[in-house]
Amino acid sequence: MESYYAVIGDPIDHSLSPLMHTAGYRALGLEAKYLRFRVSRDQLKDAAIGLRSLGFAGWNVTIPHKEAIISYLDELTPAAVAAGAVNTVKNSEGRLIGHNTDGEGFIRAVSESVSSWQGKTAVILGAGGAARGIAQALNEKGMRLIILNRTAGKAEELARLLRQNGGEVCAGKLAAGPWLSEADLVVQTTPVGLGGEPYPLSLQGIREGTLAVDIIYKPWQTPFLREAENLGCRTMNGLAMFLHQGALAWEFWRGEQAPLPAMRAALAEEKA
Ligand code: ATR
Repeated sequence: MESYYAVIGDPIDHSLSPLMHTAGYRALGLEAKYLRFRVSRDQLKDAAIGLRSLGFAGWNVTIPHKEAIISYLDELTPAAVAAGAVNTVKNSEGRLIGHNTDGEGFIRAVSESVSSWQGKTAVILGAGGAARGIAQALNEKGMRLIILNRTAGKAEELARLLRQNGGEVCAGKLAAGPWLSEADLVVQTTPVGLGGEPYPLSLQGIREGTLAVDIIYKPWQTPFLREAENLGCRTMNGLAMFLHQGALAWEFWRGEQAPLPAMRAALAEEKA
């Protein structure tokens, strides 16, 4: 029987999840389909119930639903609990299980570019669902964290959760400050730049060689990454994290290793 998977979010047109997963199904000769649905905030509950009723085997959850989806799930994995955010849902015979693969996907993506984690400082820009998974994964690696967000209260709320998980965390409003020269790693987790719009914060003062990562992968280079590169940072866009979070979701859904080379090749072709 054919299996169905999906990604839900808003906006969703830019998502390469269908392309990446479909390439994987083709590589393994699987009878499966991966669809994309735009779901607004007020449709989220109906969408979760609908996907379950229709027998979808699993789905990814993206902006802006990674926290709100939790209310409609039956169970969370430890990774989802620790992050307080879900990007992957499995429909296990009608029981909806929420998981988070953003954090581990991020670690896999950057690990070749990071020589040591313990005691180093990571600055996370944004405090939404994507930031949560990444921040908790870096917390587990023993990094000091600085969370900066447009709405300071949301950064504080995330910092509290991370401290409960044993983290050394500061939080504040998205603004320039001494963190620019303290950061070993800066991660841009907001949707700013998806449409090529300028970043609302200057990176002037950041140290040369700092690793700057934008989790956006389309466009390929955001204004944030362009500025970081001009200031001598090492830069990485979100494509590698996207690949790994997708492969980890596949493994969670299907209990088997994802065909990483086929998925990577499909993304490379899209970029070319
Ligand atoms: P996701 O699940 O992808 O992280 P989200 O939970 O909606 O999506 O979070 C979006 C993040 O981007 C939030 O940190 C948001 O800041 P607020 O908490 O102040 O809303 C941030 N964000 C969105 N638009 C922004 C903008 N124009 N400037 C700065 N930050 C922005």
